Amino acid sequence: MNTSPATSARVTELLAQLTVPEKVGQLIQYFYFGIPAALAGEESEIAQQPRAVEDALARGAVGSLLFVTDPAENNRLQKLAIEGNRHGIPVLFGFDVIHGLRTIFPVPIALAASWDAGTIEEAQAVAAREARAVGIHWAFAPMVDIARDPRWGRMIEGAGEDPFLGSVVAAAQVRGFQGDHVGAPGHLVAGPKHFAGYGAALGGRDYDEVDLSDQEFWNTYLPPFAAAIDAGAGNIMSAYMDLNGVPASGNHWLLTEVLRDALGFDGFVVTDANAAKDLETHHFASDAADAAVRALNAGVDMEMAIAQPAFENLVAAVENGLVDTARLDDAVRRVLEIKEKLGLFDDPYVDAAASEAVLADPAHRETARRAAERSAVLLHNDGSVLPLDADALGTVAVIGPLADSKRDTIGPWVFDHDLDETVTVLDGIRAFVGDRAQVVHEQGVAYPKRTFPSMFDMWGDTSPTSAPDFDAEAALEAAVNAASAADVAILVLGEQQDMIGENASRSDLSLPGDQQTLLESVAATGTPVVLVLMSGRPLDLRWAASHAPAILEVWYPGTRGGEAVANLLFGAAAPSGRLPFTWPRSVGQVPLHHAVTRSHAPQDQVHRYWNEESTPLFPFGHGLTYTSFSYGEPRVDAERIGRDGTVTVSVDVTNTGARDGVETVQLYLHQRFGTSSRPLRQLKGFRQVTIGAGATTTVDIELGPDQRRYWSAATRDWMLDASTFDVWVGADAHAAAHTEFTVTD
Ligand code: BGC
Repeated sequence: MNTSPATSARVTELLAQLTVPEKVGQLIQYFYFGIPAALAGEESEIAQQPRAVEDALARGAVGSLLFVTDPAENNRLQKLAIEGNRHGIPVLFGFDVIHGLRTIFPVPIALAASWDAGTIEEAQAVAAREARAVGIHWAFAPMVDIARDPRWGRMIEGAGEDPFLGSVVAAAQVRGFQGDHVGAPGHLVAGPKHFAGYGAALGGRDYDEVDLSDQEFWNTYLPPFAAAIDAGAGNIMSAYMDLNGVPASGNHWLLTEVLRDALGFDGFVVTDANAAKDLETHHFASDAADAAVRALNAGVDMEMAIAQPAFENLVAAVENGLVDTARLDDAVRRVLEIKEKLGLFDDPYVDAAASEAVLADPAHRETARRAAERSAVLLHNDGSVLPLDADALGTVAVIGPLADSKRDTIGPWVFDHDLDETVTVLDGIRAFVGDRAQVVHEQGVAYPKRTFPSMFDMWGDTSPTSAPDFDAEAALEAAVNAASAADVAILVLGEQQDMIGENASRSDLSLPGDQQTLLESVAATGTPVVLVLMSGRPLDLRWAASHAPAILEVWYPGTRGGEAVANLLFGAAAPSGRLPFTWPRSVGQVPLHHAVTRSHAPQDQVHRYWNEESTPLFPFGHGLTYTSFSYGEPRVDAERIGRDGTVTVSVDVTNTGARDGVETVQLYLHQRFGTSSRPLRQLKGFRQVTIGAGATTTVDIELGPDQRRYWSAATRDWMLDASTFDVWVGADAHAAAHTEFTVTD
């Protein structure tokens, strides 16, 4: 029996007593949907699922359940599991705790935009506390997939384009979810996903194939997974798509040689939903039985099954000698170990009565407000239009389809939120302004429509839609009149939350529906326009950036989002978020990111297209605030170091404005020559500092061998070259302050 030294006597003993069907049962996770049959369709698989799952629980053939968030229901199902299993093995409850459970935090791309590991860790710790209180043990999060193509809707769930920032964010999320060890009280097992390369889907189309070069795979897509694993993540979810022609969830090289051997992961691997059965859909496995064998043998430990599990076939496969029994035992051992670490063998039930107080904790809402304030990005602020002065304004017009939509304010991938306590931007502004100014609201346009339905429609918790007889002309006229009569027009525009996320890719980045017309019509009144953008991806802001004096990207800011946005607009808080991705001018430029290599005709680098510049609209790392900063000349503490050496880069940063502020000092590195071509610039360090008005702070950032090591396709190995390195330090990927150092043999 393949038992690691860490395996406890209890797990070893239990494993020895299990029959093959009992072992296989531990490797199956079922969805248990609480979707009313009326919505799902009486005869649908989803409506039938609860009965099938309860039968399996009664047979002792279930390892885990997902999608149960009601503590009483959780206890009922747990009892069925324990009583149905002759060893009394409890089930593990997993769920998509993506950005909060009851308290909804800004969406993950927004949390990443805070560039603040503390904020991120704190948010996910609250999410974990709430989820654990209702009996959830494990989060299918964080999503650590690098995303460089904003057509891909799942960009919203990750940390953007950059492996360095992505690694910081991944580790912070794992610490937040899990605490300092698997099984920490009030925490969840973290399950970074989707292993690996999922974000590089062809054309940005969700689930489509991925062809990644080895150097992209190792240098760009894997580091956030490595960071999450180093932070102790107890689970990994395998991805849906083909990776270089082999399905990720049936890929032995990926799930065993890379994940186990190279990254040293020793937790358990679950497939994405239905991804084991999908091996047949991929034209890879011949049938569900073959799919189960190939997934397990590749390194999957648990199947997430939407309906009939493929893994049920493993019982016969063991009899037929098609699976390696040591591999089977290894998978079962990992699942039992996680249950033991969570304390489930001794304490499988949840205190349902105590959960309400945890979910209602006002401190959680305050954490959400702070996180929303920290994650908004001020993209543009001509003539310091922001912050607004509530006392100096007679009338404030708040316009747009997203200004007062509670459902859109909290974003996708939430299920247990309370809309009644969600604060929209309009609510937030009204509360902030009080009777100091008059606040008027106009929707301006119909809610934009999706061309195709959303996979989340079956929950019935959809974004608002407009009636077919919505009078578009009258709405636009009312908005223009309101703007004309106001001192400022705050336009809240963007994509509704169901236009982004899983299976919500987009072939265009324009403002959906009639919102561009609304923006242009309101701007034409001459009233200063503040554009508040809700999105989880960059949208086409070419017109807005040259016509709207101020643009604040607030993402989908969560339960207390509107309050945070009002605080930012009126200066009770100052924006400090930074873009975690490069903001393209138009969709034709994508994918566009900052860490590209240079080749022929570098002087024409900005003219690669004849119709528009190749440069971004806003660079990676960009974000303004209500003060300004200047940078001194950066210094290195050593001009020459050995290959294993570290240099410290120091720079003096001065707050040149009249208000205290937060600056995110970013360090970009470039290796001038080496075994491979090296990117023009790569983020390799950053520090967030608060600097008082007029004060100067010295910021030190260390650059060690880990920041210079890279995987080279020339040697097919990790390299640490002797070379000369350029260093730029500044406020975004276009930072100008420069120094250099040399690494010698
Ligand atoms: C998604 C996963 C998610 C799972 C369970 C899948 O469709 O790709 O990210 O965790 O469903 O809800």
